[in-house]
Amino acid sequence: MRIAMVGAGYVGLVSGTCLADFGHSVVCVDKDPAKIAALQAGRMPIYEPGLDALVAENVRQERLSFATDLAPAVAEAEAVFIAVGTPSRRGDGFADLSYVFAAAREIAAALTGFTVVVTKSTVPVGTGDEVERIIRETNPGAEVAVVSNPEFLREGAAIEDFKRPDRIVIGAEDPRGAAVMGEVYRPLYLNAAPILYTDRRTAELTKYAANAFLATKITFINEMADLCEQVGANVQQVARGIGLDNRIGSKFLHAGPGYGGSCFPKDTLALVKTAQDAGTPVRLVETVVSVNDQRKRAMARKVILACGGSVRGKTIAILGLTFKPNTDDMRDAPALSIITGLQDGGARIRAYDPEGMEAARPLLSDVTYASDAYDCAQGADAVVIVTEWNAFRALDFARLATLMAAPVMVDLRNVYTAEDVRRRGFRYTGIGQSR
Ligand code: UGA
Repeated sequence: MRIAMVGAGYVGLVSGTCLADFGHSVVCVDKDPAKIAALQAGRMPIYEPGLDALVAENVRQERLSFATDLAPAVAEAEAVFIAVGTPSRRGDGFADLSYVFAAAREIAAALTGFTVVVTKSTVPVGTGDEVERIIRETNPGAEVAVVSNPEFLREGAAIEDFKRPDRIVIGAEDPRGAAVMGEVYRPLYLNAAPILYTDRRTAELTKYAANAFLATKITFINEMADLCEQVGANVQQVARGIGLDNRIGSKFLHAGPGYGGSCFPKDTLALVKTAQDAGTPVRLVETVVSVNDQRKRAMARKVILACGGSVRGKTIAILGLTFKPNTDDMRDAPALSIITGLQDGGARIRAYDPEGMEAARPLLSDVTYASDAYDCAQGADAVVIVTEWNAFRALDFARLATLMAAPVMVDLRNVYTAEDVRRRGFRYTGIGQSR
């Protein structure tokens, strides 16, 4: 099958590459000539484990190519995916759909023959209707079915998630659209991935509901962690104790500094807005959003407390900047609020992240970037683990102690246990571990 993927950002590039790997013929189109030139030269615009090799292999097999010109790719395609960005709009937090609608207009003008246009970007309920309206208005003769096919990829595990999904959701009003999408995902039948066929609005809402539920799960365990600290209980054991109940499930119950990234913060806000507009506010999700925002700031206070109540004039070593490991993504990363909070308290910041420092530089000021965890800890009054990169899982505490001004660790990801670290002569503060 011939596929055009419009937008070679995170979702588009991963989806396009994996669809090519299924055997389809895929052209990834992006307006940014520098990005396309880099991809043609084999350089990835994002860090995603395994992506460069998969791109190289599919380019070599001539199933995958990159272009800046949308029209020829769309004209030849049986399915055109819209995978352009939907950033939060300034002011009201609603998803900014201008890129999606602009793509729809351009696609409409280039359509030939029956084509399925698929919204892959996360888009609010009703966007598929608007995309269809725009296409029919721009090109009244177009033979088109507009389908919603939300993606559920996690950064850092995107290829695995695409190839072995828990489910595929396809929202189509026109049975011809559903049939083409069945062909697109046929290679996954071997993996027995369930395909859920719904109407378009249900598919659109399912994506938001999934992310909001996961964000709620994380926020719930984060609040339990705070409670554990006050009553002398251990949140990891609470998480295990509840997670073994199949109805709850053990995943997404790791307490931490609050969720970040390009999806949960943006999607929960957009859902709140959609629900308010519909006159049925989702108060639980509204609370999750505000609890999570406050939590990121509260983490700076936790570090200050661990340093005896003040960080003025002290040096704090931040290990991990990205919102989670195995990505270079700094969007809404808790590290940003934590570092700013510590700087407001008068701290000097040293920081190290295996992949995120380049993206962090423009977002933070007065930070000294280090070459590894030990360089970062030089002269520090505390090390703070903000992101659980593997590089921080087996730190040499004896070496750290010789480098630091004071042996203090704040572990916002519970990489270690209090007992472990204290045995090595450090003062330790974790998340939801009793004092
Ligand atoms: C998330 C969803 O997991 C994907 O299913 C979805 O497709 C994606 O958003 C999206 O909408 O595009 P992602 O943002 O890549 O994926 O990252 P997650 O692994 O879900 O982590 C999100 C945040 O939650 C991170 O800051 C992470 O540290 C935090 N988290 C996650 C916790 O604090 N505790 C947990 O138990 C799990």
